[in-house]
Amino acid sequence: MRLKIRKTISAFAVLAASASFAHAGDVEVLHWWTSGGEAAALNVLKQDLESQGIGWQDMPVAGGGGTQAMTVLRARVTSGNAPTAVQMLGFDITDWAKEGALANLNDIAAEEGWDSVVPEALQKFSKNDGQWVAAPVNVHSTNWVWANKAVLDELGIAQPTTWDELVAAMDKVKASGKTAVAHGGQAWQDATIFDAVAMSTGGPDFYKAAFVDLDPAALGSDTMKEAFDRMAVIRSYVDDNFSGRDWNLASAMVINGDAAFQFMGDWAKGEFINAGKVPGQDFLCFRFPGTQEQVTFNSDQFALFNQGGTVSDEQGALAKAIMSPAFQSAFNVVKGSVPARVDVSDEAFDACGKQGMKDLAAASKSGNLYGSAAHGHANPASVKNAIYDVVTAHFNGEYDSATAVSELVSAVELAQ
Ligand code: GAL
Repeated sequence: MRLKIRKTISAFAVLAASASFAHAGDVEVLHWWTSGGEAAALNVLKQDLESQGIGWQDMPVAGGGGTQAMTVLRARVTSGNAPTAVQMLGFDITDWAKEGALANLNDIAAEEGWDSVVPEALQKFSKNDGQWVAAPVNVHSTNWVWANKAVLDELGIAQPTTWDELVAAMDKVKASGKTAVAHGGQAWQDATIFDAVAMSTGGPDFYKAAFVDLDPAALGSDTMKEAFDRMAVIRSYVDDNFSGRDWNLASAMVINGDAAFQFMGDWAKGEFINAGKVPGQDFLCFRFPGTQEQVTFNSDQFALFNQGGTVSDEQGALAKAIMSPAFQSAFNVVKGSVPARVDVSDEAFDACGKQGMKDLAAASKSGNLYGSAAHGHANPASVKNAIYDVVTAHFNGEYDSATAVSELVSAVELAQ
């Protein structure tokens, strides 16, 4: 509880410190892209708009996963001062659309043919009641491992493909004195690992039953207990200073060779690229062992706030810029994600990006594409946050696995 109050206060402090001074013709964009890799990607968008004579009013709210950004957004809207455009994930878009807060982008979408190029899985969130309310800028996925190649080579570790191989690999790294798992102890990061661990432990039917259908039997199952047991195993391989560390600092530990692995969404690749590292040469990207067939995705979308019932010129320009195929390629090459359109070539992408695009298409075709629970694409924010609380309490040793399972069942029930 104390933590929640502190978070709220700091969100308001950010708000006060960055009162908006947007001019007509500018777009004011609220987002949480503040790490080196994220900022580099955001620059691609800023420059695109500036080349069209549209000014950019930056409204960054630090905090991976966007929890703090959503708190600031609520305060802005409540005080009658909604930003022009907001980075948003999954069910948050639906929630705001249902409140009638978002602009209707149907005319632009029809003109630009969005219906035929944006994958169905994303349209589910970009549209509400048949109305386009957001422009998707990318597709990320959470079930990735990022590894330092030199560290693995030095220790004779092959890329692990099963849970047991992963545990053996983590053991070897720990024995060498290096950190096996670079991790930041923040609720959304714990939950990001949990996406992959739950999928790997129980497979896609289990993942869907638990996190999409919110079936109490799956949430309270022995499989869920095993997933928590595996989280405890991972906990034993993080370093002593993991608590509160930002995700990009955890990426830096792998980049610098202080740690072997990070389990994180492909925004982590943005950090490796920003540090001048090359996939296959300096670092490896591969799916979390046991989830090679699956993709747990999230898509950053820009929701445009309703400004008196019309879409302003600058809002329209932003939406069109985001959806242009050339931009989708240029932006996602830097961001670590893959395009939110099916008609963008993979030519400009590195090996991890090419794999990401291939995996996404294959998972979508074979019915193995699932929304990320940690990043707002499996269930609404109230449920997501309830899951965060349990996963984090367990990761920090407050609950054993059996207690975590029963807490999960009741927390999810209460949150609905
Ligand atoms: C995710 C978002 C990514 C990345 C990450 C860490 O929720 O989709 O774009 O920014 O948080 O900040």
